[in-house]
Amino acid sequence: MNKETSNSFSKRASSYDSQSYVQNDVNKRLLDRLKIIKHDKKNILEVGSGTGCLSQNLKLKYPKINLTSIDLSHEMLLIHKRKNPHAQCVTAHAENPPFKDETFDTILSSLTFHWCDIDDSVFQKYYNILKPSGLLLFTVAGPDTFKEFRKCPKEIYKKLRFNNFIDMHHYGDYLLNSNFKDPVVDNEQITLEFSTFEKLLKSLRLTGTNIISSNQNQFISKSEYKAIKTSLYNNATNTYELTYEIIYGYALKHSKTPDKTGKLVEIKEVKKD
Ligand SMILES: C[S@@+](CC[C@H](N)C(=O)[O-])C[C@H]1O[C@@H](n2cnc3c(N)ncnc32)[C@H](O)[C@@H]1O
Repeated sequence: MNKETSNSFSKRASSYDSQSYVQNDVNKRLLDRLKIIKHDKKNILEVGSGTGCLSQNLKLKYPKINLTSIDLSHEMLLIHKRKNPHAQCVTAHAENPPFKDETFDTILSSLTFHWCDIDDSVFQKYYNILKPSGLLLFTVAGPDTFKEFRKCPKEIYKKLRFNNFIDMHHYGDYLLNSNFKDPVVDNEQITLEFSTFEKLLKSLRLTGTNIISSNQNQFISKSEYKAIKTSLYNNATNTYELTYEIIYGYALKHSKTPDKTGKLVEIKEVKKD
């Protein structure tokens, strides 16, 4: 999936910014949450930074931060670099961030984890590379994302391809299982309205999502395409709707660090010695 995902985003890197309405809106909401959290923001990592929209806004809001942006797609990062030649971009897997323990005080990620093979062990890696008391703040798409497609006839729906959207409670469990302190998850829905079905599909495609598989066995005929189109039409609004379930996750690393004997001690105690 990783190679396919990376290709899909790389192919759409140059068109991504023109269609990323939801992604931009979610970035703003994430930033609004970050603003109200009193927390060190010196060394920040953005995971799945794409063309750098969130990174750019972060730099505008906090010009003094040391910001590193990672993404699997080199082409997405090239667009980011074109917009900001000073950006520190690293082509890397979100599942395996290539950084030393206790490097960052804040890790941010927006709408990326549903593209990854994510589990406790990945969150444990984020825990490790955070400094004591570090903050992890992320958004990810949840299972009600693109729920309108469920109105399609079953045999057609089966041919469509969606990410493995995980319920928010699982993210809460991942955070707890990887030792994070006080994790909080919540969600909201954002629904877009399109005047035509073709515009809806274009918006999906140009932001890297291919719901129609390239597998020949999953070929969508003209009549099936028409059936999908009819299923997604909302008579009440005369539009084609597309919903995103946005999950927000927040958690802190404990303010403890191992002493020489491997015992966990409060940072305050270490400073006193
Ligand atoms: C929907 S875009 C979001 C980009 C950006 N956060 C934004 O809000 O505009 C998802 C991004 O995740 C990246 N991505 C997908 N899987 C990844 C992985 N395993 N590791 C790192 N980045 C990944 C894609 O290349 C893409 O840039």
